[in-house]
Amino acid sequence: MTEIQTPRLLLRRWDPEDDLVPMAEINADPMVMRWIGDGNPLSLEETAEKIERWEEEWDDEGFGLFAVELLGSGELIGFTGLSVPDFLPEVLPAVEIGWRLGRQFWGQGYASEAAHAALEFALQDRGLDRVVSIAQLANQASVNVMTKLGMTLDRETVHPVHGAPLAVYAIDLTEYQA
Ligand SMILES: CC(C)(COP(=O)(O)OP(=O)(O)OC[C@H]1O[C@@H](n2cnc3c(N)ncnc32)[C@H](O)[C@@H]1OP(=O)(O)O)[C@@H](O)C(=O)NCCC(=O)NCCS
Repeated sequence: MTEIQTPRLLLRRWDPEDDLVPMAEINADPMVMRWIGDGNPLSLEETAEKIERWEEEWDDEGFGLFAVELLGSGELIGFTGLSVPDFLPEVLPAVEIGWRLGRQFWGQGYASEAAHAALEFALQDRGLDRVVSIAQLANQASVNVMTKLGMTLDRETVHPVHGAPLAVYAIDLTEYQA
């Protein structure tokens, strides 16, 4: 099952044509990208490559980042979902949960609502027993979502390429209460 409905959201796989422009707008916002990678916004072409890779991960791994849309309007608000955190070899093997929403969709509980559904998916559909989440230490909004999900600090480290201080949170899904 790769579509999940929550009270306000639909989590689904990517439609590279329809999702490109709205996701590129999100990735082009410096405030959204501030704590991600080198902190630079992405171009339309870079977002097109990302969507292609996100879909490949679904095909290769059986899990991936869900495109998240608002029920009713069908507006794409960003993503939440699972990926392999290749950028941080010290935590591998691992599956990471992550999220990124357009700025106008922050502060409404959407990230947490989608993340709960993605954790359920990890446990029930994919049988994963542990999920991590990685954020720059200063990214309080992201760490806030992690703690609301019941994740706890596993370790602090630094990004191997950019050197930014990172927090690695983790959850044992065998003890996860939805
Ligand atoms: C990280 C990110 C997804 C968090 O989004 P968010 O909207 O702050 O997260 P939530 O969905 O948990 O919502 C937060 C607030 O919405 C409010 N809210 C409003 N209506 C709500 C509702 N119906 N249900 C729950 N919360 C609601 C709550 O006050 C909550 O804050 P609190 O937990 O302090 O009480 C967002 O900041 C983002 O996209 N950032 C840029 C990308 C990024 O950094 N991604 C992570 C990289 S590691």
